[in-house]
Amino acid sequence: RHDLVSAQQLDTEAVLHQIKLATAFQNGLQIKLRRPVYAMNLFFENSTRTHTSFEMAEQRLGIGVIGFQASDSSMTKGESLLDTLKTIQAIGVDLAVIRHSKNAYYEPILAEQLTLSLINAGDGSGEHPSQSLLDMMTINQAFGHFSGLKVGIIGDIAHSRVARSNAELLTKLGARVAFAGPDSWFPVEFSQFGPHVTVDEIVDQADVVMLLRVQHERLSTEMEEGFNASEYHERFGLTAERVERLQPQTIIMHPGPVNRGVEIDSDLVESPHSRIFQQMSNGMYMRMAIIADILSAKNLIEPIELGV
Ligand code: CP
Repeated sequence: RHDLVSAQQLDTEAVLHQIKLATAFQNGLQIKLRRPVYAMNLFFENSTRTHTSFEMAEQRLGIGVIGFQASDSSMTKGESLLDTLKTIQAIGVDLAVIRHSKNAYYEPILAEQLTLSLINAGDGSGEHPSQSLLDMMTINQAFGHFSGLKVGIIGDIAHSRVARSNAELLTKLGARVAFAGPDSWFPVEFSQFGPHVTVDEIVDQADVVMLLRVQHERLSTEMEEGFNASEYHERFGLTAERVERLQPQTIIMHPGPVNRGVEIDSDLVESPHSRIFQQMSNGMYMRMAIIADILSAKNLIEPIELGV
């Protein structure tokens, strides 16, 4: 099978290869399809960046993009996701990009041995591998390496698929990860990747400060009722006061969407430390790389020459 569902399936070599391929696309690399190829983007949770950049990537690779809206599909009549995928495969779709609120929604699909390839564009609080790869590309552009880099991930770790995928890849690549945010949003399983420290420790020491949005759509009613945005900003946000203490080389990252004034002071989104919009640009090239790699493995494109 040729799919990308989890950062766990990527080793160091695979990540560095994807960065190299995405950079080649950024520098104008083009591919040649051996036959018409079709993709469908099935988003069962809202998205701006991931959905748009996958569609842009597909169009730039010359792939036919077949429209899909969950609300006007036959899933509203009770058809399962698996039967929907079998259906679009029968009609001729080669590649499905799926975002879904259910963690590991892809497991029963992978068990079915479909010929259709699957890219996970985010599963609940599980994983977001394409975001993680574009984040690795952005960090590599800033530092040229990962070994020994100090990366602080701040915020709603418990509900963040970005935190999980990034912690996985960063530790594999040799970076040192630490987390900060409310204690109750730090699941014990994340301790395998790094310690839970204070926001101020991260601000004082990190090379990369990665902020996360509070995922209100995944909070319990009790958590939601106890949440106060300005209090959160003061205790856990990147404030105008805290940013003064960053080291000159430190970059600020955020997967988006940003809640300005909550996890980050609004003015800092465009600060010289920020790579937030660069992450979004990189996302399109990284998604071209992810798709091209899958098409290459399926022998659907002419060989890509990347050089040494
Ligand atoms: N980072 C990210 O996944 O953003 P979207 O939800 O807008 O796709």
